[in-house]
Amino acid sequence: MRKLRELFAAAGMFSFLLLTACQQTPVNAPAPETAEAPTDLHSYASPQLVRVTNVDLDWTVSFEKKTLAGTAVLTIERSEKGKGAPLVLDTRDLKIEKAEGSSDGGNTWAEAKFELAKPDDILGSELKVFLSPDAKLVKIAYETSPSASGLQWLAPEQTAGKEKPYMFSQAQAIHARSFIPLQDSPGVRVTYSAKVKTPEGLLAVMSAENNPQGEERPGEYSFKMSKAVPPYLIAIAVGDIAFKPLGERTGVYTEPSMMEKAANELEDTEKMISATEKLYGQYRWGRYDLLILPPSFPFGGMENPVLTFATPTILAGDKSLVSLVAHELAHSWSGNLVTNSTWRDFWLNEGFTTYLEWRIQEAVYGKDRADMEMVLAKKGLEEEMKEMEERDEILHVDLKDRDPDEGFTGVPYTKGALFLRHLELAVGREDFDNFLKSYFEHFAFKSITTEQFKEYARENLVDKFPDKVAMDDLNKWIDQPGLPPNAPQPESEAFKKVDEQLKSWTEGTTKASDLQTQGWTTQEWLHFLGGIPPEVGTEKMAELDEAFGLTSAGNSEIAFKWLMMAVHNKYEPAYPRLEEFLTAIGRRKFVAPLFEELAKTPEGKQRAEGIYEKSRAGYHPITAGSVDKILGK
Ligand code: BES
Ligand code: ZN
Repeated sequence: MRKLRELFAAAGMFSFLLLTACQQTPVNAPAPETAEAPTDLHSYASPQLVRVTNVDLDWTVSFEKKTLAGTAVLTIERSEKGKGAPLVLDTRDLKIEKAEGSSDGGNTWAEAKFELAKPDDILGSELKVFLSPDAKLVKIAYETSPSASGLQWLAPEQTAGKEKPYMFSQAQAIHARSFIPLQDSPGVRVTYSAKVKTPEGLLAVMSAENNPQGEERPGEYSFKMSKAVPPYLIAIAVGDIAFKPLGERTGVYTEPSMMEKAANELEDTEKMISATEKLYGQYRWGRYDLLILPPSFPFGGMENPVLTFATPTILAGDKSLVSLVAHELAHSWSGNLVTNSTWRDFWLNEGFTTYLEWRIQEAVYGKDRADMEMVLAKKGLEEEMKEMEERDEILHVDLKDRDPDEGFTGVPYTKGALFLRHLELAVGREDFDNFLKSYFEHFAFKSITTEQFKEYARENLVDKFPDKVAMDDLNKWIDQPGLPPNAPQPESEAFKKVDEQLKSWTEGTTKASDLQTQGWTTQEWLHFLGGIPPEVGTEKMAELDEAFGLTSAGNSEIAFKWLMMAVHNKYEPAYPRLEEFLTAIGRRKFVAPLFEELAKTPEGKQRAEGIYEKSRAGYHPITAGSVDKILGK
């Protein structure tokens, strides 16, 4: 209701009339699907009528108000059919102050009427701007809400340095609309620029050309992304951020106190880029830098172009978790260059990227490492699918009336990657590599649907190797639930040795302290822990803990797995560590399953409530939203 009142005050009587009319109409029905204009169920925009092609942002960052305030100037193009149509944008919790149109390149502006609809829980509010037919630029003055779903505002205590505030964005899947009024569909690519004013002494970085050499912190920064990107790749972070080069075109941004650890961990980044280029063609984005965020970052990583955002929980000290860098880097081909057209096609981003991640790991760290990652991934997927509804086991998932976040499962990632691995095994590595390379070339800087992938695969794979792959096979992988019987069965020699140790321990033949674990990598430990029977009991856990100090493991993946077991078995010596972990780290992949496991018993639920009271304020809205659901808030 607040929105309606603001709009009434800002836009006067005429839009009040429009508003009343619009309150009665149901949520905009999407246009019918055609090959050129796939329906994006998660955007109100009608780009087939009026399309945004560029966004120029001018923002002031206020840590007092927790807002970005300023203007977005959108460049628009009309199709023949779109002659008289209003510009339709996506927004969420934005305060829209004014809309103006210009038909002379921004020399003169005329105020435009606009209409902000009632918010939908998943999609936010449709914003219609009524422009003169010759307007080419639209300027929207607006301010974000302090609770914008795509931004997190951190108090100094929530940072590593504890002295300066921090803010960062996370736009995927549909949160860009909570900090920019735009056509928030991955099928609508835009170039962008930004001018950003921050308090003095803080650095702003964006998913665009940055100037890493600059030591100055004047509080005024400008950015330009001259390649057209989907809106979910627009990103900003502001804080006490330093920079260190890692190679010619790579470097790391992070808070000064984390710099040394981060730079050491990430030193193979340049090698990964070269390895990927060798396989799939040139890196097309200029620089590749990483930003290591404070621990509340809700994801492992986010492939913001030119500047991957990543959780500090990958800094294990031994490079054992840098597969995440391989993954986010791989998105520079699969995702950022060739983009899913709608969130139904998300597997085109994540399945391809997970497959590339395996190949990069193999190229940089060898086949053993890649084999281990594949085995772990497949086992994880099989376990996850036991609890899953069939409709969610389909790569080309149906997300009608659902939040695209519900598509964030192991299916697009691991099933997608296993599908590509299956194709590789079917046609042979050399031909499959050529296929992928030409796929990236062919669809570079385009957003494509699953249907378009199928057409391309038909022409370039099925028709070329008719005795090796069939369209029926592809369709089965893409449109049916579960894993087909012909799914690849990765194997790891290293894990076979781990399995022998595991067997002799669970059967009681060998004491934990006598197990042959010398030289085990993180992946081997994860496989070992994953093979322990769920009801192992506190005595056996104590034996392991004494031998290997698992409760104090610093590696976030190992700690997470151990804590899951501790909760399940009510292993009390790990409870203080559990609380510490859940208050220090906001990565949803760790936090949500731990709360879920706790919530399974009444005492656990009570413990969860107690911990959550203290930890919630530090969580990103995405993580807090998931935990709220789990604890029934
Ligand atoms: N693009 C994803 C993160 C994402 C997906 C955010 C959907 C919001 C909606 C990113 O590339 C990713 O997959 N991150 C993973 C790590 C990866 C190594 C599997 C994560 O954050 O866990
Ligand atoms: Zn990804």
